[in-house]
Amino acid sequence: MASAGCEQRSERVELGQAAASPTEAPHEDPSPTMERWSDDWLVAQAPLYLDDPGFRRKALEASLTSHDNIYARTRLGSYGLQSAGWDMLPQWVPRQRVVDAQLVDSLRRGEGLELTGMKPIWDGVRPSDYAGWVALGRAVFHRYPLRPEMSARYALLHPEVAADVGLREAKDGTWPGVVAFADIDGSAQIGITCALCHVGFDGQSAIVGQARRDLDYGRMLLAYHEETGVPLSPELAQRMASWGPGRADITQDDDEDPVAIVDLWHLRNNRFLTQAATLTHEHPAALAIRQETQILHTNLERTRPPRELAWALAMFLYSIEPPRSQVAAVSVSAERGRAQFERRCSRCHSDANGGGAPLDARTVGTDARLAFGRARGTGLYRPSPLIRVAEAAPYLHDGTLASLEDLLGEARLRPDYEHVGGIGAVVGHRYGTTLAPGERTDLIDYLRTL
Ligand code: HEC
Ligand code: HEC
Repeated sequence: MASAGCEQRSERVELGQAAASPTEAPHEDPSPTMERWSDDWLVAQAPLYLDDPGFRRKALEASLTSHDNIYARTRLGSYGLQSAGWDMLPQWVPRQRVVDAQLVDSLRRGEGLELTGMKPIWDGVRPSDYAGWVALGRAVFHRYPLRPEMSARYALLHPEVAADVGLREAKDGTWPGVVAFADIDGSAQIGITCALCHVGFDGQSAIVGQARRDLDYGRMLLAYHEETGVPLSPELAQRMASWGPGRADITQDDDEDPVAIVDLWHLRNNRFLTQAATLTHEHPAALAIRQETQILHTNLERTRPPRELAWALAMFLYSIEPPRSQVAAVSVSAERGRAQFERRCSRCHSDANGGGAPLDARTVGTDARLAFGRARGTGLYRPSPLIRVAEAAPYLHDGTLASLEDLLGEARLRPDYEHVGGIGAVVGHRYGTTLAPGERTDLIDYLRTL
């Protein structure tokens, strides 16, 4: 049955690729002899995205797995049109500075934010090698303000709120995920960055690329509104309260299904991006366009980032490595578990990251709202990448299962099951749930080695 689902899926994906109008002359690969996805190949691809508007438009179209959701329609209607839409927005190179202990102290003493000491994030010089792109992208990831965020400022001012919502200081004295910056109207603001959701913590050590699973973004927004009395519609308030830690939705469309933040390990190997496989990732321009449009959309479409910054951000994302595995040696039971995995799991979890080709969400059987949602839906779910999966709880796209034991057990199918977000059966993804207890232990031992 499940393999029928896989076949159905490949039809869907071919449809998505057909949308890239194959009748027009293809844009030539400037480096056809290089190994695809190598550092040098990535650098050689940059001019296609940076300097060729026709290429960008085609890359956008090719990257949208379905053209029939809000995410796709917004971009098809506004991106890469050259004399209309987002190409007309002014570029913005923000002046900013990191939030560190000193700045937090002065905020807490009631002093205003100073514009002095804020520097442009980029000097305007296009990097020429991979290391240069990655260094620039690292700055964008940590310091490009996605938008002013009063609730983050509020949390910085109130230590108990910050602790409660997962905003915290790293060993080096900085606060990953927040930045002070000069907004486009010249006012000094606190803003959020990629690092808010994509830097995790092991004690005080920041782990770049790990989902911040204790970040309660909805609660951070609510705390600010409750304290300050700034009005908020009851539905919105209820929605924010329901997100819980590790789940968020920063796109400002009408998506009502916040999803688990994902780890960013070895993104070069993921042929589809996001859990509903909203993006097809056959070329790095797909990721650069995702980031360019995310940044301009989050900033209320007032400005756009220079494309060099979006490309640099993609290069930085490709450079992120997972922390060293905690498992010293592969045990005998993990070896047996590997055989179980080959038999029961690897037809879907098949690529180098343990992810694989998306399949019809009805075949997987998990909560289908995200997959069929109007916002970013494709009808598909991607088999989750499994790198460091032992540290990636809670599981599934909506983060409802607390442990691998729960995922691979039958107890979760009962109506009185207590899951991360409440009480009720967590259905779908039945693979492995009928294993004998010893086999399950072996399989989990194997998953811990990934
Ligand atoms: C408020 C939290 C939040 C912020 C801020 C944020 N993200 Fe994410 N990010 C998410 C969530 C949630 C997902 C999972 C989306 C999904 O699966 O639909 C995600 C997914 C991704 C993915 C897809 C990874 C994959 O395996 O498919 C990439 C890449 C990414 N984010 C990069 C970034 C970058 C770069 C920034 C800064 C410009 C950023 N994110 C800012 C929450 C956030
Ligand atoms: C028919 C395809 C298919 C098979 C077979 C399959 N999976 Fe999955 N797996 C998926 C999909 C799709 C998802 C994402 C579902 C979702 O998020 O709703 C997933 C998600 C997961 C996750 C969640 C990871 C996370 O970070 O949230 C784990 C763990 C996992 N699978 C392990 C396994 C194991 C172990 C097996 C074998 C016993 C297995 N899978 C068999 C398709 C499959």
